[in-house]
Amino acid sequence: MQIGQYVLPNNVFVAPMAGVTDRPFRQLCKRLGAGYAVSEMVTSRRDLWDSLKTSRRADHTGEAAPIAVQIAGTDAPMMAAAAAYNIERGAQIIDINMGCPAKKVCNKWAGSALMQDEALALQIVEAVVAACAPRGVPVTLKMRTGWCQSNKNALTLARAFESAGVQMIAVHGRTREQGYKGEAEYDTVASVKAALSIPVVANGDVDSPHKAREVLMRTGADAVMIGRAAQGRPWLFREVAHFLATGTLLAPPLVGEVARLLLDHLLDHYSLYGEFTGVRTARKHIGWYVRGLPGGEAFRGRMNTLESPEAQLAAVGDFFTDLGGRMDRLPASAQPERGGAEGDARPASDNQEKQKAASA
Ligand SMILES: Cc1cc2nc3c(=O)[nH]c(=O)nc-3n(C[C@H](O)[C@H](O)[C@H](O)COP(=O)(O)O)c2cc1C
Repeated sequence: MQIGQYVLPNNVFVAPMAGVTDRPFRQLCKRLGAGYAVSEMVTSRRDLWDSLKTSRRADHTGEAAPIAVQIAGTDAPMMAAAAAYNIERGAQIIDINMGCPAKKVCNKWAGSALMQDEALALQIVEAVVAACAPRGVPVTLKMRTGWCQSNKNALTLARAFESAGVQMIAVHGRTREQGYKGEAEYDTVASVKAALSIPVVANGDVDSPHKAREVLMRTGADAVMIGRAAQGRPWLFREVAHFLATGTLLAPPLVGEVARLLLDHLLDHYSLYGEFTGVRTARKHIGWYVRGLPGGEAFRGRMNTLESPEAQLAAVGDFFTDLGGRMDRLPASAQPERGGAEGDARPASDNQEKQKAASA
């Protein structure tokens, strides 16, 4: 599996998720077997580049190569400038967001909404490729199957994007209209794969080693990309990669290992966000790790009352020590349900803190 000049260790990728796949989480997933990870999207709006949120997203200190940054926007010259800006800050691959129901940028919807305006979508791709090619940086793109059920234009667009120089396309098997509802369908992904020579990545509802193999077989795709199922379960990548390589399943992780992973994750998280914001934004990750575990629900509630890294770390340590007294490994059934759209899985009381934390 290769993107431009970058050879990847395997074909099991982390899907970009704003507010989730920050640098600490991406690094953890890569350490635990993910072959590739793309950053959360960075806006093409120059006036926001110095904001704390964007500068955190564009901070790649210590990140393993290739560093891939996703950009989102609706204006071709601005997207080209955003690509150049991120390359200067260390991006080795630029990914264009046409996959998520992204926010409004300059009064227009970015992300998957671009699929509705094929001419603009192509203009953006051409401008970004023109900015990246002289710098030797491959351009990739993430899209949905189309705008709506009656206009599934992924294949038409994918062909045009390939001709324009895009070097890999990921397709989430839902239309923009669907949001995250219903089941992902893989026939459109298969048709894109069959028509293109560049690598195609299948995305949507992959939540287990068996599902990953099934989706790869059904679509013929070169790789799978996993999003929600990896929330609180970063070891899913090694489980999937191992199953695809050997046909055998790994045992669920030891409780002690999960405790160490989560505690390390939290330390890394605080060092990126600082204590105030870090404690608050860590709550959703902790909630995902303990989901489905005995006592997990009550623990999640308690988390929202803890205000310092020390208290959070101690509580997490105690939870897993207690769990370790009851079982060696995570129960195979302790698999988080898939969350919904952006932000859905955030504990309710954490939303009240969100505003405060974002401005900190
Ligand atoms: C919380 C959240 C944030 C997301 N942010 C982005 C994003 O920034 N860019 C993007 O292309 N897709 C984004 N997505 C879409 C995912 O990359 C992925 O396509 C989708 O979740 C389907 O894959 P899954 O079923 O494995 O989760 C996001 C999804 C979620 C749940």
